[in-house]
Amino acid sequence: MATASTQTHKREAFGSRNVFILSAIGSAVGLGNIWRFPYVAYEGGGGAFLIPYLCALLTAGIPLLFFDYAIGHRFRGSAPLAFRRMKRAAEPLGWWQVLICVVIAVYYAVIVAWAAMYTWFSAQLTWGAGNENDFFFTDFLQSADVAEVGVSTEFVPQVGIPLIVVWLVVIVIMALGVKRGIGAANMILMPLLTVMFVILVVQALFLPGAMDGLNAFFTPNWEALADPGVWASAYGHIFFSLSVAFGIMVTYSSYLKRKTDLTGSGLVVAFANSAFEILAGIGVFAALGFMAQAQGTDVAGVATSGIGLAFIAFPTIVSQATAGSIIGVLFFGALVFAGITSMISILEVIVAALQDKLGWGRVRTTLTVSVPLAVISMALFSTTTALTVLDTTDAFVNAFGIMAVALVAVIVVAWVFHKLPALQEHLNRRSSFRVGFIWKLLVGALAPIVLGYLFISEIIAKISEPYGGYPVWFVSIFGWGMVIGLIIFALLLSLIPWGAHSHAKDDPDYDEFLDEEHYGPDGETDTIRLPLSEEKGASA
Ligand code: ALA
Repeated sequence: MATASTQTHKREAFGSRNVFILSAIGSAVGLGNIWRFPYVAYEGGGGAFLIPYLCALLTAGIPLLFFDYAIGHRFRGSAPLAFRRMKRAAEPLGWWQVLICVVIAVYYAVIVAWAAMYTWFSAQLTWGAGNENDFFFTDFLQSADVAEVGVSTEFVPQVGIPLIVVWLVVIVIMALGVKRGIGAANMILMPLLTVMFVILVVQALFLPGAMDGLNAFFTPNWEALADPGVWASAYGHIFFSLSVAFGIMVTYSSYLKRKTDLTGSGLVVAFANSAFEILAGIGVFAALGFMAQAQGTDVAGVATSGIGLAFIAFPTIVSQATAGSIIGVLFFGALVFAGITSMISILEVIVAALQDKLGWGRVRTTLTVSVPLAVISMALFSTTTALTVLDTTDAFVNAFGIMAVALVAVIVVAWVFHKLPALQEHLNRRSSFRVGFIWKLLVGALAPIVLGYLFISEIIAKISEPYGGYPVWFVSIFGWGMVIGLIIFALLLSLIPWGAHSHAKDDPDYDEFLDEEHYGPDGETDTIRLPLSEEKGASA
């Protein structure tokens, strides 16, 4: 019988650092940038929101992006493996991140499917001018009230069929692997997305009334800065937007070569993501300015919430503008491309974790992960109550999934396992931008304080009234039940032993990597190797 020590496993890798950077930007730039940011920014005080936004980016987003990179690259593993290699007891944190990705993947796919259908509808103006609101809720989603019908199983084919197509596309990309699938998809889709988006924004800026929209977006409402909720939404947004704290950047950076400038790459990714986001804000508000002028109202009257902004306001603009169909195809097409490049990064967290734990091949793991997720996605989100389930799971997984795991991870890594100096040293080993005391202060002190505050305020807000006015039983299952279930399930998954075939063992590159660090020119002692070495000893 083959023993663990006779097997070797070569970890997949991105073709080059540039492909990694493009893929990390592809992950970061997603539905959050195009569909969520413009409204969050507007609601948070327009131009004044840029202040909390930039603070959140510089004090939490970028420092935690470096934190994720350092963990993934230093320990060369999917989230559970990387955390386990750091410290055996930290493995559940990785599984918690994997399960957050499971929840996000099942609803993320459906928004991409809606966008794909709306790309088609834009070309035909299917909704009929003036009917955009009813078309979205009644004709397209066939929305029903959970308070009346419970969780529906009634299939909505115009959502379900494109949803199957979205899953098939991402399954093919994932099955092709990191280099030929994820890397190649980003190399094709990201330049296309950028060109489409720039054309869209320029076109939007020439619409009559565009300047009114920009004024509404950029005119600072300084009073909003005194509202802690505005700061909370800026910090909450930055994690989702940068793909930080839910395993994505840990996983992607584990596919990088040893000698990589991590912080330099991180700065490119973070600023590209923000540039895209601010460009999206400009494009969307220019278009809303046009819509407001056409309807004889002000921008506040037409700026609606996330889902509404994309799927109601934009179709209205498409109906009213000259060459509106082109605007619609560019907007929804961009949403599809941005969504797919993020969706594959979310799925990669899950696929990589299972591959590492079970030692399975790429295609087998992709199918084992994706087919059940596609079925759950269909069962929950191609029915008449999809919108309510989506709204609730999204709100809870952001507040009590992403933000909670970020909070626990920084406390555990900084204060329980004291790993920040080792991670700092790893980041500085080959990076152009060196991190110092300030980085440790931001990750180890400021992030726990801010995240802790936000976490407590979110709990109070969500306990004081049932989320969204939905029935208590519903919020208990799809909100609270789901987030508590993730933690319990993460603990259980970490109890499953790493089998003899797991990729956690006998990775020649990882051993070489550690040896080089251990015996490298600086000659410092590597204490972090212990947990896996113990395990190897135990299984040999
Ligand atoms: N970062 C991705 C987004 O913004 C998940 O949608």
